[in-house]
Formats: sequence, C-alpha cells, structure tokens
Amino acid sequence: MPKLTLKDLDVKSKRVLVRVDFNVPLENGAVANDIRIRAALPTINYLIENQVRVILMSHMGRPKGKRDPKLQMDSVAEVLSRLLGREVKKIDSCVGPEAEKAAASLSEGDILLLENLRFYPEETANDPEFARQLAGLADIYVNDAFGTAHRAHASTAGVAEYLPSAMGFLIEKEVSIMGKALEDPVRPFAAIIGGVKIADKIGVLTNLLEKVDFILIGGGMANTFLKAKGFDMGASVVEEEKLEDALEIIKLAQDRGVELALPVDVVAAGEISPDAERKVVPVDAVPSGMMALDIGPETAEKYAGMISRARTVVWNGPMGVFEEDVFAKGTEAVARAVAEVETSIVGGGDSAAAVEKVGVSDRITHVSTGGGASLEFLEGKVLPGIAALTDK
Ligand code: 3PG
Repeated sequence: MPKLTLKDLDVKSKRVLVRVDFNVPLENGAVANDIRIRAALPTINYLIENQVRVILMSHMGRPKGKRDPKLQMDSVAEVLSRLLGREVKKIDSCVGPEAEKAAASLSEGDILLLENLRFYPEETANDPEFARQLAGLADIYVNDAFGTAHRAHASTAGVAEYLPSAMGFLIEKEVSIMGKALEDPVRPFAAIIGGVKIADKIGVLTNLLEKVDFILIGGGMANTFLKAKGFDMGASVVEEEKLEDALEIIKLAQDRGVELALPVDVVAAGEISPDAERKVVPVDAVPSGMMALDIGPETAEKYAGMISRARTVVWNGPMGVFEEDVFAKGTEAVARAVAEVETSIVGGGDSAAAVEKVGVSDRITHVSTGGGASLEFLEGKVLPGIAALTDK
C-alpha cells in the first residue's frame, strides 16, 4: 500500500516530529562522517521553508537503554547547525517536562534536537507509552530515517499510531530508486554481493536471483561458495554450516538462468596485516595456512567486464578485507566499474566508503544511507518504519 509522503501533508506552521538517522561515526567525540546528516537536509529545509517547528530525533550507537555521555547528540547538533546555518537547540531528554517545554516554546522555523533515543530502553522495546509521549510533542510525524526503517522501534514505528504520518524526502528517494531497480530495471541488471558472511546475505541473494541477469560474488562469503564447489580454501574463513545453502543458491541461479560468477583467483596471506606476505593464486591453489583476503586481479578484470555489460547494477558488500589497503584492490576495481554503469545503486557502509575512497561517489546514481535497511529492502522485506506510516 503506497504511503503518504511529506508533500501530501499540510505542514505549514505545525509542530512536526521527524525521525532521522543521525547514527553517525564519531572520532574523539566529533562527527567523523556527516553523510547521514546531509542526507536529511532536504526534508529539514523544506520544513523550515514552511515555517514548521521542527523536532528531530535519532539514535546513535547501541547504548542499550542507558545514558552514555559518549553517545549524546551534542556533536551532531553542532554539525547540523553549521550545515543549516541556523541554531539547533539540543536538549538532554526525549520525553518528560524538559522535552515538552522545549517543544512547546518553539517558534516557526525553529529546530530542536532530542537526546539519543536509545538512552531509553522503551525505544527499542517499542513501548506504546514512550511512543505516545514522543507523539505528544507534535502534530505530525515524519519518518526520514531510512537507515533505521528496518527496526520496529517506538520512534520508527510506534509513534505513527498516534499522529498523521508520512515519509520524508530521503526515504521517498531511497524507496523509489531501489524499488524501480527491483521492479522494473533497465536490463541487463547485475547484482554484486560481497561481505563476510553468507548467513547475512541468503535472503538478498535469493530475492535478487529472481530479478537479475547476473550476479557476482566476492568477499569472505565467496570462500564458502568456493569450498561448497569443492575447492580447498586453505585457512580462509569458511562458514561450514552454510555449504548446503551455498549449493542451493548455485542451483537456484542455474534454474533461473542467472549467471552466478565466483572468483577465479584470490589474494592470499597468512594474516590480515599490511606487512603480511601476499600471493595471488588461482582458487584451486590456495596454500594451506593462507587465507583468501581479496579477489585477485583476473577476477577483478572479469567482474569489471561483466559490470560494464550491465545497465543497472546493485552493489552491497566489499570484495575483500577492504579496511587494509593491500586487500582493497578488488573492491576498488569494482567501485570504479560500478561508477560507469547507467544506473548504479550502492548500499552498505563499506561499499559506500569504497566509492568515496576511489573518488567516484558523485558518479553513482544512488548511494544508500542504509546498511541493514537497504539489505532488507533488497531482500524484498517490508520495512516496519515505512509500513507504519499513513496509507495514501
Ligand atoms: C545503521 O547504522 O544501520 C542504523 O542506524 C541502524 O542501527 P542499528 O543496527 O543499531 O539498529
């Protein structure tokens, strides 16, 4: 069922409670990457232009229902205030007398940022009373936290029970771009799936196999596929209990006529260290005691060639241990190839970091702000933070 979007509601001069995903990385207390804050600006600026009294709320980290001074939202308020060029009032609570007073005293165009929602155990428990109190601060609820839309929490789902609600511009954009790729892609349509574990990606692989023309596998999970196909992967991390699943996915691809590509060579080393001795070896010659830590150059070239045949590509997950430069070459080659595709969608923190690192993020059609959320969307799951919103 289609949901209301921000422009469907008359927000003028109202009090609007907006769930954003300001779960940003911090370094020494300062915001280390402001992409998610910038991604929320279109919605916030639209509200300011409409003289809305804006109440923003987000979680940061996983403080497990306890106050943690290191995870307060103050540094986020500073960055947001700089980006907007106006004051952002930050308070130390989310509900209760302080929050009620702060919300009530907002003037048109003012912005208030509540404290980290996860300082309250009621948030992740989706406690109805907590949701009701949050809702009591405003007239309208807008969810623009795509990155957290896969969580059924009080601020992402519960609160929508009590107020007219709509999705903000970021969620609208994420859902329309990824939804179009899934439902009506310009073909050929390719998926590139990497990352450490098959366990996390079975759902997305199974769903994408119904939609794509070819699928490229990399990262640690490729080892499990290769082992399932009978290769000796040396000391590589292999999910022994997922070998059957890997074989099933290979079979499913065959049944669907989808080409499923696996690495033909890898960069192997004895340890994950920049100084470790490295060897490029074919997948049938991984030395015992060595781990496959990146796709090899032949695979990178093969994958880049396949990607260049696609007109739509979805990429989630790195091809190797991307954090170490010496094992990042495969991921970087894929990032460059993805940037050449007509419609390119990149999800997940590492893949997004990779396109940024090789300087092509501005050539990517859409870099999703969601990690788990984009994965669940590509799995075809209903995201509770969207399902809860008012139907169109
Ligand atoms: C994310 O970073 O993926 C979102 O902000 C959700 O965070 P969570 O996994 O702690 O719920």
